[in-house]
Amino acid sequence: MAQVVVVGSCMTDLVSCTTRLPKPGETVIGHKFFIGFGGKGANQCVQAARLGAKTSMICEVGKDSFGNEYIENFKRNEISTEFVGQTEDAATGAASIIVNSEGENVIVIVPGANLLVDSEDLKRAADVICKAKVIVCQLEITPATSLEALKMAHASGVKTLFNPAPAQADLHPQFYTLSDIFCCNETEAEILTGLPVGNPEDAGKVGSLLLERGCKLVIVTLGAEGCVMISKEDPIPKHVAAGKVKAMDTTGAGDSFVGALAFYLAYYPNLSMEEMIRKSNFIASVSVQAPGTQSSYPYRKDLPRDLF
Ligand SMILES: Nc1ncnc2c1ncn2[C@@H]1O[C@H](COP(=O)(O)OP(=O)(O)OP(=O)(O)O)[C@@H](O)[C@H]1O
Ligand SMILES: *[C@@H]1O[C@H](CO)[C@@H](O)[C@H](O)[C@H]1NC(C)=O
Ligand SMILES: *[C@@H]1O[C@H](CO)[C@@H](O)[C@H](O)[C@H]1NC(C)=O
Repeated sequence: MAQVVVVGSCMTDLVSCTTRLPKPGETVIGHKFFIGFGGKGANQCVQAARLGAKTSMICEVGKDSFGNEYIENFKRNEISTEFVGQTEDAATGAASIIVNSEGENVIVIVPGANLLVDSEDLKRAADVICKAKVIVCQLEITPATSLEALKMAHASGVKTLFNPAPAQADLHPQFYTLSDIFCCNETEAEILTGLPVGNPEDAGKVGSLLLERGCKLVIVTLGAEGCVMISKEDPIPKHVAAGKVKAMDTTGAGDSFVGALAFYLAYYPNLSMEEMIRKSNFIASVSVQAPGTQSSYPYRKDLPRDLF
């Protein structure tokens, strides 16, 4: 039985590397192309699974080759695909990404099948949702579906970890009251509160504002600075620094952090929250030292023993 259940998105990244970005109507010749597995929900699930969590992914892909490939990717990562639906009504979510030599990019995201995850999918998976230790949700699927999943889990006493990404200024107020842990980055915290976040002190301020909206615990991630946590139990913001590393590619670091945190919440519930966050910072900081998104996520066997 899955201990970590993720209700969320999966997305195929189609990445073309060029010296410069094309203008409207222009064709440029690129020098490299690759396909990657992405989508915040799937990324988080993959990181939790690579640390050894028994996981189940609840999502929708299209009945197309990208959908088939994504299901194979879940299986390679030992994620249960029992509740991965394959629909004829939309294509697998795709992100077309063009990156120039300066690292600037243009991106088009077509959510496709992700927007078809619905109440029916949740009902089919009700038993795994309600018996999990932790449920993880984001906002890359229809928000009403994420909210319903959080409600089901909350009603069964399952710990809820919510990542409000991509951020929405007018987030439904129940997202806060249904979140045991509300984990966002600087940009998301700014959009949700209207306050700028540039350092741990600012993060403490927005954290306390988000806490007042009804979550039990708020984490604001700060890239190389680690993160700030604040909770109802201990409403004094605490900065948990990340180790100094040489960052190579930070894409997907936030998802690595969330996936790692889900693993610790499910398998080491007796650790202090600060210790779980310290360990999750470490795992996310490993992910920034390798290229790509899921391709950079570490496996349990390659990590220091004292993390487990
Ligand atoms: N340069 C870095 N050095 C060390 N750790 C890092 C670095 N960048 C990110 N991290 C780790 O990853 C976590 C999440 O990073 P960040 O706050 O940038 O998330 P994010 O903005 O959601 O990520 P992204 O959008 O790039 O996927 C941080 O809390 C930290 O633990
Ligand atoms: C925060 O995450 C969003 C995706 O939801 C991303 O677009 C943004 O760049 C991130 N912010 C920072 C400061 O990394
Ligand atoms: C956590 O602590 C409780 C009470 O001390 C104990 O009964 C339980 O076995 C511990 N759980 C784990 C996973 O270590």
